[in-house]
Amino acid sequence: MTSRPVIDDLSSFWMPFTANRQFKAAPRLLESAKGMYYRTTDGREVLDGSAGLWCVNAGHAREEIVAAIAQQAATLDFAPTFQMGHPLAFEAARKVAEVMPAGLDRVFFTNSGSESVDTALKIALAYHRARGEGQRTKLIGRERGYHGVGFGGISVGGIGANRKAYSGQLLPAIDHLPHTHSPEHNAFSKGQPAWGAHLADELERIVALHDASTIAAVIVEPVAGSTGVLIPPQGYLQRLREICTKHGILLIFDEVITGFGRLGKATASEYFGVTPDIITMAKAINNAAVPMGGVAASRTIHDTIVNGGAPGAIELFHGYTYSAHPLAAAAAIATQDLYRREGLFARAEALAPKFEAAAHALRGEKHVKDVRNLGLVAGVELESRDGAPGARAYEVFVKCFEAGVLIRFTGDILAFSPPLIVSEEEIARLFGTVRDVLATVQ
Ligand SMILES: Cc1ncc(COP(=O)(O)O)c(C=O)c1O
Repeated sequence: MTSRPVIDDLSSFWMPFTANRQFKAAPRLLESAKGMYYRTTDGREVLDGSAGLWCVNAGHAREEIVAAIAQQAATLDFAPTFQMGHPLAFEAARKVAEVMPAGLDRVFFTNSGSESVDTALKIALAYHRARGEGQRTKLIGRERGYHGVGFGGISVGGIGANRKAYSGQLLPAIDHLPHTHSPEHNAFSKGQPAWGAHLADELERIVALHDASTIAAVIVEPVAGSTGVLIPPQGYLQRLREICTKHGILLIFDEVITGFGRLGKATASEYFGVTPDIITMAKAINNAAVPMGGVAASRTIHDTIVNGGAPGAIELFHGYTYSAHPLAAAAAIATQDLYRREGLFARAEALAPKFEAAAHALRGEKHVKDVRNLGLVAGVELESRDGAPGARAYEVFVKCFEAGVLIRFTGDILAFSPPLIVSEEEIARLFGTVRDVLATVQ
């Protein structure tokens, strides 16, 4: 394949979540991808240790998905789903529903994780209103939570930098649980930390403060990813579930990262044996081949809203032009079939102990102050440089990329989440490269 010329004017594209000036002074440009590897515009192969952005779970450019998209583009490029439909929308929803926990089989399609979160929050409000408890409007998130970048998502989210510039206009009726990360108790936990279930009881304190009758929903990531891989303590999610049920509060799991095999099961809900009322998803729903997200709601929620409307009336005033876009739906069907045919979730489960061992082998390396993991996700926290938080992890990230390995970083935490097709050799190379790089950074 001939390389396309690299454009030399990078100024027009205002890049998301990027230090624009720094990047454009020394760009890292990817040109193609196949399986576990990216290829850069200067012809280098780069092992994908982060499944793109935690999303390409089946590996890149899978033929079945590519073919499904190409065929769909030539057959039905677009069809509205407002008062109209196309068969693939319904089939994609059914396929997704099949791998959701029992009872969460009503699927609303969006185009991203952010939209899924805002959709879920709206569904929670609409549900309480439909059942005559419209005063339940408060939403509870968690410190360090990442729920995308919509105003709903940043309001329930708990990452200061994502809220600061917009703080004057966040949603008004919000509270936050404390996060569960406590290095003094949890450092170097393999899998779920033993300490910290009691932090879920903070929800009782919040309920006592606001009164349960004003609270619509609690939203958490079962495993927090973007904030730097925070693994829930043993028993924590079960406790949240119990408290929500006791007070009639909906529990929303934001599974945008954990959905579709990251922990070795279709969902984190299945992995932990805790069923929420609503699951948000995106990314690996269709292997990130076309933008798509979704919200799975319980039948009770769906039926309360849908059966509560007058006949002939629209029941939920919400939706996107591209909800269940034909190309995204075709990709979702092909992806779900691929996951099943290749048993990729079970593959991730089988690889998890090796992945854990490889990650924890970094314990004792220079700068490493914590390693944490679950399924095929791991976080390695580094000591921050005095006066320059994040600088060390950024340097590790750049040097790894130069050495042919793509990882993620947030603050001074390195994050690992390879496609589920990763081999044991590639796992060894991923963490081995990081070890070599760590030895070279100050
Ligand atoms: C848990 C979670 N929710 C929501 C989002 C937002 O997804 P998107 O970037 O597709 O809007 C992300 C993105 O990483 C996420 O990790």
